[in-house]
Amino acid sequence: MTDTTPPDPETLSPADAGAEHARLADEIRAHNVSYHQEDAPLVSDAEYDTLFRRLLALEAAHPDLATEDSPSRAIGAAPAQGFAKVRHTVPMLSLGNAFGDEDVGEFLARIRRFLSLETDDPLDIVAEPKIDGLSVSLRYENGKFVRGATRGDGNEGEDITANLRTIGDIPDTLSGNAPEIVEIRGEVYLPRSAFRALNENQESEGAKIFANPRNAAAGSLRQLDTAVTAKRPLRIFAYTWGDMSADVAETQMGFLERVAAWGFQINPLSRICAGLDEILENYASISAQRPTLDYDIDGIVYKVNRLDFQQRLGFVSRAPRWAIAHKFPAERATTILREIDIQVGRTGALTPVARLEPVTVGGVVVSNATLHNEDEINRKDVRAGDTVVIQRAGDVIPQVVHAIAEKRPKDAKAFVFPERCPVCDSEAVRDEDEAVRRCTGGLICPAQAVERLKHFVSRNAFDIEGLGAKNVTALHADSLLANPADIFRLATHKAALLEREGWGEQSVDNLLRAIEERRNVSLDRFIYALGIRQVGQATARLLARTYGSLSDWRAAMAAAQDPEGDAYADLLNIDGIGESVANDLLAFVHEEHNRQVLDDLDALLDIQPFEQPESDSELAGKTIVFTGTLEKMTRSEAKSRAEAMGAKVSGSVSAKTDLVVAGPGAGSKAKKAAELGIRTVDEDGWIEMVSG
Ligand code: IVH
Repeated sequence: MTDTTPPDPETLSPADAGAEHARLADEIRAHNVSYHQEDAPLVSDAEYDTLFRRLLALEAAHPDLATEDSPSRAIGAAPAQGFAKVRHTVPMLSLGNAFGDEDVGEFLARIRRFLSLETDDPLDIVAEPKIDGLSVSLRYENGKFVRGATRGDGNEGEDITANLRTIGDIPDTLSGNAPEIVEIRGEVYLPRSAFRALNENQESEGAKIFANPRNAAAGSLRQLDTAVTAKRPLRIFAYTWGDMSADVAETQMGFLERVAAWGFQINPLSRICAGLDEILENYASISAQRPTLDYDIDGIVYKVNRLDFQQRLGFVSRAPRWAIAHKFPAERATTILREIDIQVGRTGALTPVARLEPVTVGGVVVSNATLHNEDEINRKDVRAGDTVVIQRAGDVIPQVVHAIAEKRPKDAKAFVFPERCPVCDSEAVRDEDEAVRRCTGGLICPAQAVERLKHFVSRNAFDIEGLGAKNVTALHADSLLANPADIFRLATHKAALLEREGWGEQSVDNLLRAIEERRNVSLDRFIYALGIRQVGQATARLLARTYGSLSDWRAAMAAAQDPEGDAYADLLNIDGIGESVANDLLAFVHEEHNRQVLDDLDALLDIQPFEQPESDSELAGKTIVFTGTLEKMTRSEAKSRAEAMGAKVSGSVSAKTDLVVAGPGAGSKAKKAAELGIRTVDEDGWIEMVSG
């Protein structure tokens, strides 16, 4: 601890600031040499950070000091390609949404059912404002801040440590006792007042104006030049954790208190609520305070307070069962609908899109909104020329709510939904039980091909840097990309790429390098990337987990084409896959051209077999069937436990079953297991297996 606080850089004269800056810069340069080149640091990391932060503060107040040769540039400047990647040891997940009181009621009921709680058993919920910023993960080792990363796709983010070190709310060193490894997660935000000041300043400098504080915070955090980040008064609220080498609390509230004691800011409006009434009262009270807060919030997050309950509740797909986000109602605005266009998606779906007079809704300029499908347009009777009400909530695509009848121009004509694809002119058909009309052009439809490619390279799929929607469309138009396998053959077209306008040696090399980096891919990402109808991330993961490797999956899909064979029954047996998904899967692999793409990709890529989680568990990779009544744990909890330990849960007993858990009342399934000689345990035996 220093006994004298240095003067606020803003109050220093340019001469004094310059003198202090020169002194500091020299000192930091000397430390850099001793640390990096001589491997013999002269000061502790914390002392170094204090010096560095002071340097950044001086530069923020006196921008002339941020010269090219300042150590702030040398250290903060990341390689030109961007930031290094960081794998999150514990994935950063998202939250399910509740849009009304009823959804919240259901959330509580679901938890009570899952945990078999009686109506009078207490179930405390922590309600925390949902901060509208960017989530980051901050790793501390032995109490020292060592690395900070963005969320990225949840599994892998970007290393923005240098930028995060400029945020005053993030302690370099944790106060008091903390476990050896601590990973704090929270939301970085730009206060509203700072946002207004920043935009005024940007405007006077003719620089980019930010649409809202969240975008400004994102732009500030992803700066390659740390000195720019340092000028933006970013802040952070801590709210959860990732990797942690020891337990630090028994409840979420206890965790927040612990984090505050380590030196973090926690949101002062967080409360414990005992039930739905208190939850809704709190929601109303925070909604009322919302306009007066100096930060944006877009809802309230509810979390089960007891961490042992959280542990038992676990996760479904990418979100915890023990938490939910209660969103504030969507913001609305009125504008003119210029025309209705039809977009063709990756599975051929024709989606009507409203082209609007641009209008600001909730801080964002909106010029397109979805009209969902044919029935929706008819039901709402929305026409070109109408004045329409649109709404936007969070990251959701803006929607047209309704047209204002009194404002309709006399000559406005009802929209006629096309019966042919507007892109390839193939017939567009609508199945009886579907709301969607689809182009039947398949491969010959360029719109579908482009959308499939866009999906293939998207963030949760192959995530190829530099190959965004715009480039995919352009490369497809130039016949350099027709199908996903072509991406991995682009290197053979280097000359053609170099000829493209605006592309130079450097950008082409960067793109080819980014593609090279993705030849190694996990099986679940690979299956998801294929863009098979109804096969999202969760289903892709289920398939990867069930079949293990690409060749086993393909062999099983080929065998499952026979609806009377075992392979088809096995597919339907996967808990979470129904007939409709199974049929889409089989239709996909049935197509000769899809099989060709799979062959090509298999030859071009290194597809990693699915890694079973917790492989040291005796249940990993095993197939389990539950039958009869379970009395100590609900079926859902048993299933979630089994999956967390790397097992698959199936609905019926076959030769592939490894274990049957039979409670009282078990009938034909237990009998079949006995016939097949499959190991069978009762509920106590099961509990012993999962608690061991
Ligand atoms: S908890 C596993 N608490 O909301 C649960 N998230 O939609 C992890 N967020 O990615 C999140 N305020 O960026 C949590 N008090 C809060 C939050 C919060 C904002 C964000 C966070 C997360 C997103 C989920």
